[in-house]
Amino acid sequence: CNTILCLDFQTRLYAAQAARKLEATEHVSFQPQEVTKLPSGLVIASLENYSPVSKIGVFVKAGCRHESHDNVGVTHILRLASNLTTKGASAFKICRGIEAVGGHLSVTSTRENMAYSVDCLRDDVDTVMEYLINVTTAQEFRPWEVSALTPNVRRDVDDAADTFPQRLVELLHQAAYKNALSNSLYCPEFMVGHIQSEHLHQFVQNNFTSARMALVGLGVEHSVLKQVGEQFLNIRSGAGASGGQAQYRGGEMRQQARGSMVHCAVVSESVAAGSPDALAFSVLQHVLGAAPHIKRGSNTTNKLVQGINKATSLPFEASAFNSSYSDSGLFGVSTVCQGAAAGDVIRAAVAQVKAVADGDVTAADLTRAKTQLKSQQLMSLETSEGFLEALGSQALASGAYLSTDAAAKNIDNVSLTDVANAAKMFVSGKKTMASVGNLGSTPFVDEL
Ligand SMILES: *[C@@H]1O[C@H](CO)[C@@H](O)[C@H](O)[C@H]1NC(C)=O
Ligand SMILES: *[C@@H]1O[C@H](CO)[C@@H](O)[C@H](O)[C@H]1NC(C)=O
Ligand SMILES: *[C@@H]1O[C@H](CO)[C@@H](O)[C@H](O)[C@H]1NC(C)=O
Ligand SMILES: *[C@@H]1O[C@H](CO)[C@@H](O)[C@H](O)[C@H]1NC(C)=O
Ligand SMILES: *[C@@H]1O[C@H](CO)[C@@H](O)[C@H](O)[C@H]1NC(C)=O
Ligand SMILES: *[C@@H]1O[C@H](CO)[C@@H](O)[C@H](O)[C@H]1NC(C)=O
Repeated sequence: CNTILCLDFQTRLYAAQAARKLEATEHVSFQPQEVTKLPSGLVIASLENYSPVSKIGVFVKAGCRHESHDNVGVTHILRLASNLTTKGASAFKICRGIEAVGGHLSVTSTRENMAYSVDCLRDDVDTVMEYLINVTTAQEFRPWEVSALTPNVRRDVDDAADTFPQRLVELLHQAAYKNALSNSLYCPEFMVGHIQSEHLHQFVQNNFTSARMALVGLGVEHSVLKQVGEQFLNIRSGAGASGGQAQYRGGEMRQQARGSMVHCAVVSESVAAGSPDALAFSVLQHVLGAAPHIKRGSNTTNKLVQGINKATSLPFEASAFNSSYSDSGLFGVSTVCQGAAAGDVIRAAVAQVKAVADGDVTAADLTRAKTQLKSQQLMSLETSEGFLEALGSQALASGAYLSTDAAAKNIDNVSLTDVANAAKMFVSGKKTMASVGNLGSTPFVDEL
């Protein structure tokens, strides 16, 4: 991101925090973040940080988990189709119009949500917001513009296949779930070039409904967002068909690939995001080691690395794997190593989680893990992208936003027993394993 803008964002956010303290001591009314749910079901969430730069997003519960068998891959195309012609403006006009005020439109998607966001100077909010509303509500998906996206789809699919960590995560979800969360973020090979305008229209019609959307903003007045939401994001009402609940099955996916290395992950089902035990898994992730750590030269507190060091003299990387969704989650270990070391490395990593389940965690380990988790959460909120993402996904998931103070209190409340119980859930759960690379010596999931 643009460093100057980020720094400016920080100083303004601190100003807002200072104001909040003032409010606490002098009873001045000041609400930095506000969340409102409109009768249509649309959630409006904003943080006024008094920055001269604004960032606004439309979040929709329309990630790839909502694709059906007939249109699998459609969200990948939708992600690339954000700046195509709408009813009010040509693709060219959208591009020029946003650029003319120095703005920028971007689209990202996760398995749960799609997020359209624009940033601009505060004075241009009205102009840019109109484009944002049009690209999310008045798409035309002209057939020739959609077909012209195919080379870009192809390129993304190839890139994802060549990036082993990415491929591993896709395989892991495919093996872990029967439906919904098994869908890939990338268009499957057999659908590249076959997703058409009608697929896109049908998907948007069914999934882009007010009750599945949130309009969120940073550096913008809540009342402005509310008015826009009431007026323009009220076109399709209703909650839509309720999406399918993810069904965990457990299983294995292996893909042989060129090279000498193996990327491997072993997980069990954990819990849904926001459930009481979710934070225990986050703390456990930091107890074991959240960032990929390389063995060589590291004098580390990472328990996985400490354990694997005893099992092999070959180089490796290891970290705890954790991802959480609205109705399920995956937790386990992820490793990268030479093909020949795979068995030793994976077994040693799994054994470390078992040790934690058996109570091998000290109060010092717990404190360190909590501090790391809190600082990771705070750091991710330091950029406007990170903040908008947190605000948007929480607004969609729960219709509320948890302040960082409250989040930190919840983390502090996680006990040693909670962490050991989370580890036990991994140990006793039905396993899912994915591996990519030189698989000659990689054990199968039933051999672990
Ligand atoms: C948005 O759409 C409306 C109606 O289709 C159109 O009148 C308006 O010019 C469009 N605005 C932009 C910025 O594309
Ligand atoms: C749409 O955005 C993509 C990048 O996301 C860009 O490559 C493409 O040129 C844009 N299309 C138009 C018509 O502006
Ligand atoms: C989203 O769209 C797909 C394709 O039209 C449809 O099968 C699915 O039921 C929709 N999801 C919801 C929650 O309506
Ligand atoms: C799991 O880890 C991801 C990063 O991989 C993090 O963004 C997320 O907050 C974690 N989930 C929980 C429930 O802690
Ligand atoms: C490794 O860490 C321990 C304690 O954390 C410290 O006492 C020791 O000096 C460190 N060793 C190196 C080589 O940094
Ligand atoms: C702290 O955790 C306990 C269970 O471990 C729970 O009963 C209690 O409500 C939690 N307190 C807060 C403030 O979250």
